[in-house]
Amino acid sequence: MIPQETIEAITDAARIEEVVGDFVSLKRRGQNMIGLCPFHNEKTPSFTVSPAKGIYKCFGCGKAGNAIGFIMDHEHLSYPESLRYLAGKYGIEIKEDSPSDEEKVLRDKRESLLHIHTFALRFFEENLWEKEEGKAIGLSYLKERDYREDTLRKFQVGYSPDLWDALTDRALNEGFASDLLSESGLSIQKNQRLYDRFRHRIVFPIHNLTGAAVAFAGRTLTQEAKGPKYVNSPETEIYHKSRILYGLFQARSAIVAQDECLLVEGYTDVLSLHQAGIENVVASSGTSLTVEQIRLIKRYTPNITILYDGDAAGLKASYRGIDLILEQGMNVRIVLFPEGEDPDSYARKNRVNVVRDFIRSRALNFILFKAEMLKKEAGNDPVKKAGGIRDILNSIALVPDAIRRNLFIRECSQLIDIPEQTLMFEMNKILRSKRSSSPEPQPATPPSPAPPAIPQTRSMERTPVEKELVRILLNYGELEFSLLIQSEDITEEISVNTATYILHQIISNDLDIQDPSCAEILKVYRKSLEKEALPSINTFINHADADVARLAIDAISQQHQLSQNWTRRRISVLNEAERLSDLVVTNVNRLKLSLVNQRLETISKQIQEEEELVMQMARLQEHQELQQLKVEIAHLLGRSMMY
Ligand code: GTP
Ligand code: MN
Repeated sequence: MIPQETIEAITDAARIEEVVGDFVSLKRRGQNMIGLCPFHNEKTPSFTVSPAKGIYKCFGCGKAGNAIGFIMDHEHLSYPESLRYLAGKYGIEIKEDSPSDEEKVLRDKRESLLHIHTFALRFFEENLWEKEEGKAIGLSYLKERDYREDTLRKFQVGYSPDLWDALTDRALNEGFASDLLSESGLSIQKNQRLYDRFRHRIVFPIHNLTGAAVAFAGRTLTQEAKGPKYVNSPETEIYHKSRILYGLFQARSAIVAQDECLLVEGYTDVLSLHQAGIENVVASSGTSLTVEQIRLIKRYTPNITILYDGDAAGLKASYRGIDLILEQGMNVRIVLFPEGEDPDSYARKNRVNVVRDFIRSRALNFILFKAEMLKKEAGNDPVKKAGGIRDILNSIALVPDAIRRNLFIRECSQLIDIPEQTLMFEMNKILRSKRSSSPEPQPATPPSPAPPAIPQTRSMERTPVEKELVRILLNYGELEFSLLIQSEDITEEISVNTATYILHQIISNDLDIQDPSCAEILKVYRKSLEKEALPSINTFINHADADVARLAIDAISQQHQLSQNWTRRRISVLNEAERLSDLVVTNVNRLKLSLVNQRLETISKQIQEEEELVMQMARLQEHQELQQLKVEIAHLLGRSMMY
């Protein structure tokens, strides 16, 4: 039991806007704050938080409560669990005599569910690999689909025999309670008897982030429509399907290293792409993409590429996904496969390089994607065309930050050949109408603000940072380092390859390299990355360009200069390799900072030169956000103490 005084300490400390703010991006509106409701799908914010009253209320779906209630509802936690969560957040120590009964029951329930899933996983795997039926039917089917053993083992694929109660029987014999069997969904109760849910199927386990199986999906082996193609576990205490992505456990480090997450429809797509060496891939499998799933991805990367079939259903799913992803402030690109192909079939028919090239060259950002669709569908019909443009602007208006919105407007303007001001004007109308339809009235904004004084930003020296990144690449490119990913209540340690991480950060953030020798070395690395083999140092030392050669030699001989003596050199190398994570992250952030500074300078000039009011306002807003971004990066840099 948690003592009453501790409960009070927690409720006193828990500020509603901070607690909610961990999950919902809130904007101030007068006394209150508002955001998009996490409990129902909405496009215009009607979720209101009152810091003064310590409560939240959604005017759309009616949900309301205090900080503890929010955590209970949002995280599906019990009252004591929510208190514990908040105590953790605010560093309040809980001294208690013994866990409450409610907690014990819940913990035991979760543990039993995990336990029986692990048991079932072994059962299905054993049936696939060791039993005659499984080998003859299951394994031969999977081999026919070209799955290799290592792929199947990695995803722990199994087989459920063609019997009514093979698993149920075994589990009961092992002492599992029949209640637990029904509750886990592994057995189904009918006429006072228990039957197996998964019969005569290929079984794909669904893992949580610790790698434990929490649910299964069973695929039929027979072509004829006898029952559904897939049978899935029901929702349980350990499995909420809207918050799980198939393959995320296996894909995490590749997603971080490549700063991109590929999103596909199904289990077989994930397996086939993995097998082809494309590992940064997850599936929403079965459910249409949810906000929670997108937020899961956001922990690892802001970049999502949707890979769907080119058929109508695939298109529709892509359209739905795009807006949800944009609302989260993330980047979304879309790859449509040729009619009749999905990532699975395409990856099986083509060589890895072809698949990679296809994804890379076909990935369109959402504007290009929608503009292409517009061209295809609207043709010369002016009404359809206007509708299409409006649809694009609606999507752009969902993007939370002004910098990106304005970039998209510019891109859209070039693409459909309509002046930027016109589009900006239309988008501002959409933004305004959204604001006015939200429940809280806009606070009185001061009458058209005079342009604020633009801080003079001095451009940080760029070349030393670029050279330092090249030096890290050349010396430690092949090493792995760990990144701590912290979000909500979980901290994960993810191991990533140094070269992959640096190069993909440069690519995905458009960090252009100014120094020509650095640019050349990075170009060679980028090419080699596609072949998955790092270039040899000799490539650069013997480079035709003397400047490149000198840069490379300097980079690898720096430690010699630092300490002549072998042991001392070895120590310094070890130390540097040990703090590789800091070294890499710090220098990537420095490069980002210098890019932000450069953009700030450009925008400052543009603001002075801009004549159209609507454009001037847009630039001012960009400037403000860049300034904020600058502060954030500077903060990150200040926090890495090691370097
Ligand atoms: P083939 O492409 O025909 O080889 O089959 P597949 O196993 O790849 O499945 P398919 O491409 O037809 O479907 C893609 C995804 O949609 C699957 O991985 C499932 O997540 C989901 N899905 C398909 N059919 C069903 C079904 O009957 N029930 C459920 N719950 N999900 C399904
Ligand atoms: Mn398929």
